[in-house]
Amino acid sequence: MKAVAVIPGQKDSVHMATLPRPQVSEVPNGRGVLVRVLRVGVDATDREINAAEYGEAPAGEKFLVLGHESFGIVEEVGPGVTELRKGDYVVATVRRPGTSLYDLIGTNDMTTDDVYYERGISLRHGFLSEYYVDDAEFIVKMPRRLKEVGVLLEPLTVVEKAIYQAYEIQRRLRVWRPRQAAIMGAGTIGLLGAMALRLRGLEVSVFSRNPRTDLNARLIEELGARYVSTAETPLLEAARRHGPYDLILEATGFSPIVFDGMQVLGKNGVLVLTSVTGGDRRIEIPADRINLDFVLGNKVMVGSVNANREYFEMGVADMAKAEAEYSGWLKQLLTHPVRGLDNYPKLFEHLNGGNGAIKVFCEVADL
Ligand code: BGC
Ligand code: ZN
Repeated sequence: MKAVAVIPGQKDSVHMATLPRPQVSEVPNGRGVLVRVLRVGVDATDREINAAEYGEAPAGEKFLVLGHESFGIVEEVGPGVTELRKGDYVVATVRRPGTSLYDLIGTNDMTTDDVYYERGISLRHGFLSEYYVDDAEFIVKMPRRLKEVGVLLEPLTVVEKAIYQAYEIQRRLRVWRPRQAAIMGAGTIGLLGAMALRLRGLEVSVFSRNPRTDLNARLIEELGARYVSTAETPLLEAARRHGPYDLILEATGFSPIVFDGMQVLGKNGVLVLTSVTGGDRRIEIPADRINLDFVLGNKVMVGSVNANREYFEMGVADMAKAEAEYSGWLKQLLTHPVRGLDNYPKLFEHLNGGNGAIKVFCEVADL
């Protein structure tokens, strides 16, 4: 079968590879599920892997199949699988267990191992291929009615985890009634974050460098959230008007903004960081003031990466709610379809170009 792969460590090595179609029997205990891939989303992670910033091939192999944002249909299940059947629409989780205590209890997303296994990213092939096989444990069923937006589930799970972690942490307060939220960044994660927090009834301000004229701004306003272009109103100034914020979600990919976020976080507030920043940026910050306000305000800052199966299930529930409350909204995020695996160079053109893309994805096969 065909697959889109890179040679890790080699810049711009994305190419078409051929590999054998995987078999259900490769998974122990009859728990294998063969999935025919329908759609795969791509994001900055794929771009950075193709730029050789990170990414690892599976042990003993030269290439890594890309793609971690999957959507597909079950083709065949092993004899030990009762929770899925042929014809079900599904999405696979990304990270696979390592050896730490957290992996052993099924929370691979919280691993403390230095080496981690992620399909399409690190040491495991991804989903940008015609088929994949995995253990039913890592495959989550999607309602048929959500099939058109199903490819957005994986990015949504990153948001679900970030928000859930924030609420878990805030149990320290015995009572927490967040009202004002800020989201930094209006890309796919920022947009989905705004959706998830609006569904929970928070007032949401989304901060972005871009002018208020783009599609992202309109989508944010359709949720009843506020779009703030930091080109017009810098964060610190906007926060004097609408802040301070009880909950902040950082999703810009630009690490210096974190320290601005720390300055607009309210007392007892929580700031969640989700940007994977591979670079080596340095900046000067008002360290004493930030520290003082954090201490005197009992504030928390937390990092959050990846998402376990439970967050995929939360994501499915939120997608269903979103379709009920903001019907047709999710679909508008699917701005840049690319038809067929053969057209993979287009995926990267869209990822690189400043063409207003929100979600770039490959239509591997018809829904
Ligand atoms: C993926 C996550 C993954 C992270 C770090 C993100 O792009 O969506 O699932 O854990 O990259 O590799
Ligand atoms: Zn991703």
